[in-house]
Amino acid sequence: MSAVTKEVLAEVRSRANIVDVIAEFVVLKRAGNSYKGLCPFHKEKTPSFNVTPEKGIFKCYGCNEGGDVFAFIQKIKSASFIDSVRDLAERYGVALVETVEDRQEHDRKSMMYKLYEESCQYFQSLLAHPEEGYIGREYLNKRGMDAATIEKFRMGYAPNAWDGLLTYLTRTMNVSTHLLAEAGLVREKQGGGSHYDLFRHRLMVPICDVEGRVIAFGGRTLGDDQVKYINSPESPIYKKGEHLYALNLAKDSIKKNDAVIVVEGYFDAITPHQFGFTNTVATLGTAMTEAQAKRLIRYTDSKRVYLSFDSDAAGQKAIERGVETLSQIAEGIGIELRIIRIPGGKDPDECLRSTEPSAGVEGFQKALETAPHITDWQIEESIKGIDLKSHSGRIEASRRVIAVVGKIKTAAARVEYVRQCASLLNIREEELLVDVRQYRTDNRLDAPSKGASPFQPQNGSGWQGKNGGGGGGKGGGGGNKFQGKGKGKFQKKEEDEGAPLTRKHREIATVGLTNAERQLLALYLVSRDDLEIVSNSLADWQLLTPEHQEIKVALEGIGTQFNTMDDLQYQLMDRLAGLEELRGPLTEIILIVEQIRKQNLPVRVVISDYKSRILLSLAKNCLSRLTQMLGMSNDSAMATQIMTRIKELNQLIKVELVSAKTDEELDGLKRRIEQIEVEFNL
Ligand code: UTP
Ligand code: MN
Repeated sequence: MSAVTKEVLAEVRSRANIVDVIAEFVVLKRAGNSYKGLCPFHKEKTPSFNVTPEKGIFKCYGCNEGGDVFAFIQKIKSASFIDSVRDLAERYGVALVETVEDRQEHDRKSMMYKLYEESCQYFQSLLAHPEEGYIGREYLNKRGMDAATIEKFRMGYAPNAWDGLLTYLTRTMNVSTHLLAEAGLVREKQGGGSHYDLFRHRLMVPICDVEGRVIAFGGRTLGDDQVKYINSPESPIYKKGEHLYALNLAKDSIKKNDAVIVVEGYFDAITPHQFGFTNTVATLGTAMTEAQAKRLIRYTDSKRVYLSFDSDAAGQKAIERGVETLSQIAEGIGIELRIIRIPGGKDPDECLRSTEPSAGVEGFQKALETAPHITDWQIEESIKGIDLKSHSGRIEASRRVIAVVGKIKTAAARVEYVRQCASLLNIREEELLVDVRQYRTDNRLDAPSKGASPFQPQNGSGWQGKNGGGGGGKGGGGGNKFQGKGKGKFQKKEEDEGAPLTRKHREIATVGLTNAERQLLALYLVSRDDLEIVSNSLADWQLLTPEHQEIKVALEGIGTQFNTMDDLQYQLMDRLAGLEELRGPLTEIILIVEQIRKQNLPVRVVISDYKSRILLSLAKNCLSRLTQMLGMSNDSAMATQIMTRIKELNQLIKVELVSAKTDEELDGLKRRIEQIEVEFNL
């Protein structure tokens, strides 16, 4: 990294108010010192997304996403770190000092945007040209495109020549053919040397990014070319599977309608726009990707997505195109995905322009209104054509239905669908439920409950819920923030290293090493006065989490070279900027700082708490390995020795660790555990 200087980062940070930046994407309401809103990164009904302007960070307690302004921009725009800095720097008028490579990359991209814009204008002017554009205009005319639509979608015409665009661009823009080839506008002839236009005698449809910059083209044949559409290849400014056609033109309407229509083809988006369905976008011939889905739901609060699969044999085609993946993506990000069934096996473009009574605007509108939920649709499609009156038909149907219902992630929804299907197939609900369960087991769809360790009874007394924090306290805005958090995530880890301890000690352990480590790191940021105590106390205590270690290294790198505590925090953020895996931990640490300040937690207490937890984990680990050794040992002298140590460790855990408070005592215990490790070469 080190792509931009510290000074630039600091300057952008100080100018870009995180609340203003985020408010562009999220409706924020003030709540004390912070702001709250609905998280743009996951589905929720009650706000658990928080912005703390004083700290310059945001944090969602539902999905755990968090970070600074740069992180927010990165995430919301799927931008790289450097692009997030550039974006904000530009917006807040900070001049960038970049590395030569950055500059070159940036220049190359800007040049490509210019090339695409220039090409678009060139194609547009040719379409308007009386003779040159005649065939293209006739074609559009026949397809019922009106002038306003042609203008709005900036359609154009690529001439019937090998070097129309090539000559035009090299003349007007003083650009190398090499860059034109890299941009995907021309191709190099086989054998090398000369280049030729990619698009010839085609109707040109520009593809834009969400800001409306032209980034690619689709070119439809106007002749009898075998290839109906030629599309621009991917380039530094165009990524397939991320961009959506017409999103720039549809986004406001998507917001207004709180719903989006997703189709497959260029004209299947263009025609709906012309007929007033201006919230339509297209995926361009592929199945919707997760990146595209995530991009879309930023514009609709209730995340309603209407998807139109292409016409005939829709079911078969859809299955080929991974409708299952799609429905899982939808469930994962909380999309309400509905499938549009267009009458008469048409595509949206044909349907809207058709004069058949069942089609046209009314037909399309009706198809939208009656669009089934994807799961209902999958169920219906899966049993289409099966005779439900026959015995064997019902067996086959239930087999297929199980494969659909069995994949539903949410238990409640699954049960509901089991009920529905049982009645649909006229079979018993209980039996279908058993089959669905079996299906999930066979396909390993039930998350292995790692929480349940071998020695823990399955129906535990509940002192340690199987699912930990229920996946991290969804929607739990209140409560003790840094106690409840991360549990779901980190409990697993602790239990993996678990050894048969008594109930009491497990209770201690489950509170979480991760939290302890974060509290400890937070101490570095609380007050200058405590810094020395903290770093001395920890001189030879290793943090177990690599991310935490990295943060510690960065903190030690800064040392005492900072002004205020805020300055230290920002220096730390700057040092670690762009390292995605550190974003989450760092945000939590910064939030913990506040907690420690508020609760006035004494440094010593936090440190000894941390050390006790680490010791407990070390001791447990040691204990479990000794127990393992004992089980494998045939040497009775050795066995006795191991037994002694096991007793000692148990004593250490149950008695000494509980009473030890001072650094010396705790350091002493650590040495003893280490000695045992050395003794048995653990
Ligand atoms: P379709 O074959 O369904 O075409 O492809 P269409 O959109 O209905 O085309 P028209 O109405 O005849 O003009 C759907 C989409 O798949 C991509 C295009 O994005 C197209 O809009 N596609 C299709 C290609 O990229 N290349 C092709 O050769 C065909
Ligand atoms: Mn079509």
